[in-house]
Amino acid sequence: MNTKDLESALHALPYPGLSRTLGELKLISEVKVTDNHAKVELLTVSDESYLTVKTAIETEFASQFKTLDITKKSTAPKDTNYGNSAAPNNRAPYAANVIAVTSGKGGVGKSTVSVNLAIALAQQGYKVGILDADVYGPNVPRLTNTDLEKIRWNDDNQIIPCENYGIKIMSVALTTPTSDTPLVWRSSVAVSALIQFLEDVAWGELDFMVIDMPPGTGDIQLTMAQELPITAGIIVTTPQLVASDDVSRAIRMFQDIHVPIAGLVENMSYFIAPDTGTRYDIFGSGGGERLSKRYNVPLLGQIPLNMDIREGSDNGEPPVVLGSEMLKSYYKEIVKAMLESVKFRF
Ligand SMILES: Nc1ncnc2c1ncn2[C@@H]1O[C@H](COP(=O)(O)OP(=O)(O)OP(=O)(O)O)[C@@H](O)[C@H]1O
Ligand SMILES: [Mg+2]
Repeated sequence: MNTKDLESALHALPYPGLSRTLGELKLISEVKVTDNHAKVELLTVSDESYLTVKTAIETEFASQFKTLDITKKSTAPKDTNYGNSAAPNNRAPYAANVIAVTSGKGGVGKSTVSVNLAIALAQQGYKVGILDADVYGPNVPRLTNTDLEKIRWNDDNQIIPCENYGIKIMSVALTTPTSDTPLVWRSSVAVSALIQFLEDVAWGELDFMVIDMPPGTGDIQLTMAQELPITAGIIVTTPQLVASDDVSRAIRMFQDIHVPIAGLVENMSYFIAPDTGTRYDIFGSGGGERLSKRYNVPLLGQIPLNMDIREGSDNGEPPVVLGSEMLKSYYKEIVKAMLESVKFRF
């Protein structure tokens, strides 16, 4: 194989689990073959996707060369690394709008925010589905009190999503024997499962598909942006994370992959003592605003750290349905701000 042969073979190699090739994804920077020694330089986004692509190339081509050296280009030029997500596939043509809820970090309240926003949209009369894209830590069924449900199929061999609180729900947890069964999937398998959930689930027509993303900025986030035209990204943060690189990474990833950011949600923002009503800014204040200014994205709202939010959520009783008027208002206000922040299609 000479340089040209390897180059075209690499361009035609599918990205594991995706319908796009490495060429279409513009992930190949340079290819060189000299005396049966091959060098490949990749333009990938995250370390995780670099490893995925590297392994795929090695599996396919390592045996054909004396050495195969695959490196990552240190600074990928903007707009080429995620080039394809500027014109993504549409695996969910039945959904008028796709909202991706993410953050660079775990445990900040993405799932809680996703579920309550989805329900708040349904309360306004929209048809809403929620896809739990956190295949390794699926929480949506517990938050929506559907964790004991099992998936069923309709006559067209499509999976019937669960329904509760007015929204349709799909999660990998509904396919496992118990909701705490751990999944030991490679990320390419996880990605394929999610694509199946987009394509083989009887969602019906939706005004909104809300996607609860796993923590981080890896393969799943990238795939969703490549396989779906995301209408709006929502970044969940907590005040102490505001200055951290994780949140910046999540914002930059959305900006790089051309996902319009609807805004930031500052969760666990402050604490109001239930007995005295005193407000405590446990993690400081003004962080969300500073971040919003720095990246020029709106701050959609702040949700306090609140015991009823934690208890209700963990018991499958979403605060936007079963909480106090005060709790409901936090999520409703965010939905209102979100609907004003991005141009949605109806
Ligand atoms: N505003 C809040 N006040 C109190 N507890 C909250 C609040 N928001 C979320 N929680 C609680 O914090 C925990 C983490 O929330 P959640 O699971 O939504 O985070 P996540 O970002 O989706 O986490 P992961 O990264 O693991 O997916 C849960 O126990 C949830 O009930
Ligand atoms: Mg979660």
